[in-house]
Amino acid sequence: MGAGRWASLAAILLGACGDKADPPRTIAGADPARGLAVMERVGCAACHEIPGIDWPQGLAGPSLKGFGASPMVGGRFPNQPEVLTTWLIDAPSLAPGTAMPAMPLTEAEARDVAAYLYSLDER
Ligand code: HEC
Repeated sequence: MGAGRWASLAAILLGACGDKADPPRTIAGADPARGLAVMERVGCAACHEIPGIDWPQGLAGPSLKGFGASPMVGGRFPNQPEVLTTWLIDAPSLAPGTAMPAMPLTEAEARDVAAYLYSLDER
């Protein structure tokens, strides 16, 4: 009985932490598979290691492995859908001087890419 009580308390605490660290990251109508195809087309992997893209796994930018579980974009913006899609289309508009260039993505493409990135939640 006592142990059971601890187990459920732990579950509640872990759940609470999870809620705090994970803002809602579903993107209505976005298609992760399309996002992956878009990333292959525009060449994100020239600068990023991206699970699902074998080549070229460039190193100029951070690995995007586990990015879905990260609380931040670029270490300084909250990792939320609107922020992320803005970053993907025009990172310098958020972070002047960043080495991540503006990318030729439509809003819909950026949302598909964001949906794929949010599926990368394994470290
Ligand atoms: C020319 C190299 C380059 C290209 C091409 C590029 N990026 Fe980046 N990216 C970077 C760099 C450098 C950073 C780190 C920027 C910073 O923190 O200021 C970054 C940061 C990011 C971040 C934030 C990562 C984190 O851990 O917070 C995401 C997400 C991202 N890029 C996704 C993409 C996607 C998706 C594409 C293709 C649409 C792309 N990038 C294309 C260089 C690039």
